[in-house]
Amino acid sequence: MASAILSLTSASIATSRPLIENLKVNSKLGSSSQTTFLGKDYIKTKVIGSWHLTSMTVAVEVSRFNDITMAPPDPILGVSEAFKADDHEMKLNLGVGAYRTEDLQPYVLNVVKKAENLMLEREITKRNWVSAAFAAALIERYFPGSKVLISSPTWGNHKNIFNDAGVPWSEYRYYDPKTVGLDFDGMIADIKAAPEGTFVLLHGCAHNPTGIDPTPEQWERIADVIQEKSHIPFFDVAYQGFASGSLDKDASSVRLFAARGMELLIAQSYSKNLGLYAERIGAINVVCSTSEVAKGKEQYHGSSVPEELCAEKEFVAKHGSTCLVKPVSLQVKSQLKRIARPMYSNPPIHGARIVANVVGNSDLFNEWKEEMELMAGRIMSVRKKLYDSLSAKDNSGKDWSFILKQIGMFSFTGLNKAQTENMTSKWHVYMTKDGRISLAGLSSAKCEYLADAIIDSFHNVS
Ligand SMILES: Cc1ncc(COP(=O)(O)O)c(C=O)c1O
Repeated sequence: MASAILSLTSASIATSRPLIENLKVNSKLGSSSQTTFLGKDYIKTKVIGSWHLTSMTVAVEVSRFNDITMAPPDPILGVSEAFKADDHEMKLNLGVGAYRTEDLQPYVLNVVKKAENLMLEREITKRNWVSAAFAAALIERYFPGSKVLISSPTWGNHKNIFNDAGVPWSEYRYYDPKTVGLDFDGMIADIKAAPEGTFVLLHGCAHNPTGIDPTPEQWERIADVIQEKSHIPFFDVAYQGFASGSLDKDASSVRLFAARGMELLIAQSYSKNLGLYAERIGAINVVCSTSEVAKGKEQYHGSSVPEELCAEKEFVAKHGSTCLVKPVSLQVKSQLKRIARPMYSNPPIHGARIVANVVGNSDLFNEWKEEMELMAGRIMSVRKKLYDSLSAKDNSGKDWSFILKQIGMFSFTGLNKAQTENMTSKWHVYMTKDGRISLAGLSSAKCEYLADAIIDSFHNVS
């Protein structure tokens, strides 16, 4: 490790002169030289005037980390870095999907403050889940050879998650650039064409990045096809509440599948709807069908049922404490715990306790629903104002109503890469290169400015 760090430092200070010259410099030049021993190899650095001359033996050549190349910058996090460095007064950060107030400040929900106070009163001390990654690990281990179908486009990290887990994926059509809407026929055709038993990744609500969701009738049709093909639905729910303002309404897609008795995976995040970005708290839910549980009613390899299964309250209530059945859902849970163990050993508990306090207390839960409505309402109002500004200012006859049809935090503007670059370089509006803007980062006061920027980029840059 030290070798790699020192090698990098040496390389960077040697940029104005060929490395070979530095390598020739005698390491015993004077009193200000520094020596670092790296096992048998060493590096010496000498400052002469403004020159940092480095004498190395074979440290660079022998580093076993040499083949690690520079990772590409993250497309979303990089936008925030560039935003921070800009000091223009009208600058707007529409790259990150994080809720901001009308003053464009982060918002700490009242229910979160109250839940934390309750925890303090009870002297519960502070002590993450990447839920989709868990599901990916489960698929890799227990469904070898299975493929995951993801929407085109989707949240950029989905591809990383499945690549890293070694789970093959391909895309189903989702976004239609002609209508800036849903390519429903393409979506259905691609889900139908996938081999039986494919995991179909669906955004439960407020699709990222397009802001385009299927209608309730379309969800029914999607469920029909998934059922016909014995596929396994895999919901990613990161914006529950942000689509309609109602936590219940936004759960309707998932509930529709569950009501049909289908087995499903649900990766849920509370980062956005409880504003717990730094806690990164979420959950992985695996819904196992009752018939599968029944099928598992067999002797559990003699009497050696793991104690933790016997201790499960629901299990004992249902089957008694003799532990003679093999409950599929508990088996899955035990394997999820096993997957977690080498990943992070035990999860930090603070975020989980906040969520548990909010959902477990009816007053706080109702207050969360109100705050959710407030946050979603603010986003809906800037969405409307942006649409009004675009329609009033643009005389070309272009129909901007797709902005109103999209929902949730995001709008897919349809701007191409060159146009998004114009948004940033000329207008100081920071957004991702796929044309997505996060309306959660927009204030009413800046809607007209944003409309000017979009109209200019759309009509004057090709
Ligand atoms: C579809 C989707 N899933 C998951 C996440 C993130 O979830 P987490 O809170 O686990 O980082 C995001 C956004 O950050 C997302 O857009």
